Amino acid sequence: MTQRAQWGSRVGFILAAAGSAVGLGNIWKFPYETGTNGGGAFVAVYLTCVLLVGLPVMIAEILLGRSTQKSPVGAVRELSSPRSPWQAFGWLGVASSFVILSFYSIVAGWSLHYAWLALTGGITNTDTSSLQNIFTEVFASPGINLFWHIFFITITMAIVLGGVAKGLERWARILMPALFIMLIALLLKSFTLEGFSEGMSFVFGFHSEKLTAEGVLEALGQAFFSLSLGMGSMVTYGSYLRKQDDIVSASITISFLDTLIAILAAVVLFPIIFTFGLEPSAGPGLVFVSIPVALSQMTGGALFISIFFGLLVFAAITSAISMLEPTCSYFMDEHGWTRKRATLVAGTLVGIFGIPSALSGSTTFFGQDFAAIFGRNWFDTADYLATNWMLPLGGLGISLFTAWKMNEAIRKHNFLSGTKLGVFYRAWVLLLKLLVPIAITFIFLHAVGVV
Ligand code: PFF
Repeated sequence: MTQRAQWGSRVGFILAAAGSAVGLGNIWKFPYETGTNGGGAFVAVYLTCVLLVGLPVMIAEILLGRSTQKSPVGAVRELSSPRSPWQAFGWLGVASSFVILSFYSIVAGWSLHYAWLALTGGITNTDTSSLQNIFTEVFASPGINLFWHIFFITITMAIVLGGVAKGLERWARILMPALFIMLIALLLKSFTLEGFSEGMSFVFGFHSEKLTAEGVLEALGQAFFSLSLGMGSMVTYGSYLRKQDDIVSASITISFLDTLIAILAAVVLFPIIFTFGLEPSAGPGLVFVSIPVALSQMTGGALFISIFFGLLVFAAITSAISMLEPTCSYFMDEHGWTRKRATLVAGTLVGIFGIPSALSGSTTFFGQDFAAIFGRNWFDTADYLATNWMLPLGGLGISLFTAWKMNEAIRKHNFLSGTKLGVFYRAWVLLLKLLVPIAITFIFLHAVGVV
């Protein structure tokens, strides 16, 4: 049997896992959710969700991976029994990563297209309506969407083909610091804007009257999505750790970096929004329409637009590789495939499965017609099912499994080994046993309209 691949270093693992967590969720989704849910009050609820729900689940996922050295399906099987129904949660994780990547790649494709347009002078000095038109055109074009979708999946496959240390880790070491530098460049620009203080009081001011129950649940779902939980990415990344690595402090560092970058993204965006009199609660179009409108009016606008969309692309790539890896790891662990074969098969399948999402804005079967029959187009259906149902269900399964089913001695030993934060063991188990399942159950009840 061949030795399981491992991270080259602890820092490499942290960067790769932070790379998984930091993605479109931080830079695209978090700011518009903050904008539509009353700013600071939403941020406060989000931080509570990260600390009390996200962090315990992240520790559980990494712990399952590290203690078994397996991807989600094998990990759950090894810790229960060969026919245990708990394995379904492992399968669900693999399926979720597959579905999410298939539509995530389309949004990453829009970012690539915008970065390309900015670099080639396609979005300088343009007014709001033509920028709105660019977005509408991109969304409706099968050609543009398919091209960038295939391009993006190909880059993702190329990195995953390189393996754990030479692919995942090496690229995280390059892309994550680059992302940070780009963010700092945008931050410095944002400090100089007239709307800076207004932006700050929006992000950090406590407008609790604007926060609804809906907003609280959105914060919880966002914490899951942003920390890459509920689908086995962190189980798989944890499976490449050495037995003596400290899981607890690594999870704290990863969650901290992810949250820091989401907040910095909001700190970059809202001063821009207020300086140019744009609508802070513009929704998903915030990044693809408002930002080009605002940045193209500034000196050096084209440069800042390319930096901004470059940032989105880098963030998306390190997340996408963490979505392809669980499926590859599954094929390698369970069917003995080589990495090459697993990557080519998994990547091609995701690429094909993403085609209907790429065509969702056009008037083909997968676009308007599909929407007329099912109420949502394919892209929105995949997003809705995966984000609102599959991820929380996966998270629920993992926390229940770790807290109620896993052997206490193995769990405790794995939590304690390598860490100085052993005093938190009991609090962690308690959160996983009670608070996390209750919070997730609320997401479900809310989704079916009960609360
Ligand atoms: N955390 C990523 C983001 O914020 O964009 C998205 C993601 C990656 C979700 C990996 C789930 C996952 F397993």
